[in-house]
Amino acid sequence: MKVLLFLTVVAVALGDDDVVDEDRGDSEYHFAWLHDGGRTYDWQGANSYCSSLGRGWKGISIETREENDFVTDVIEHHELPWVWTGGQRRGRDFVWPSGARFVGLNWSHTGGKKQPQPDNREQGGENCVAVLNDFYDDGVRWHDIACHHEKSIICERDD
Ligand SMILES: *[C@@H]1O[C@H](CO)[C@@H](O)[C@H](O)[C@H]1NC(C)=O
Repeated sequence: MKVLLFLTVVAVALGDDDVVDEDRGDSEYHFAWLHDGGRTYDWQGANSYCSSLGRGWKGISIETREENDFVTDVIEHHELPWVWTGGQRRGRDFVWPSGARFVGLNWSHTGGKKQPQPDNREQGGENCVAVLNDFYDDGVRWHDIACHHEKSIICERDD
């Protein structure tokens, strides 16, 4: 029994190491594309992927300027076109899965309609928040996107 327990603890510890790609003090991060062969998911699928990593894992909540800089670095370093976050529209506002107040730190000033984001442009609504890599010649910036689009995701777990 003790041996079994020990092995379980080791397995969980090893599994945990495999899952964490970056540890930044308050949070740990998992870059989905490094683990799933570069799959893409709609927003719901991407956030379910994060939950499936284990307790506490969710789509990323970008709450501070430092965290946004980190996400920008990751996207540029990995040359990703875009990633989902855990952010979604609720009523007139947006929410993060962490429960922290949503602050629109880096919405793009432009998009498909050449209007500042969020613009809720696509018919049927753009209810999910993605970070796009210079898609509109606008740098790495936030856009509201229809949730059926398929992208990879950064997952986050608070310590
Ligand atoms: C917003 O994004 C631009 C372009 O990536 C960047 O230069 C700027 O520092 C960002 N601003 C904030 C508040 O993160």
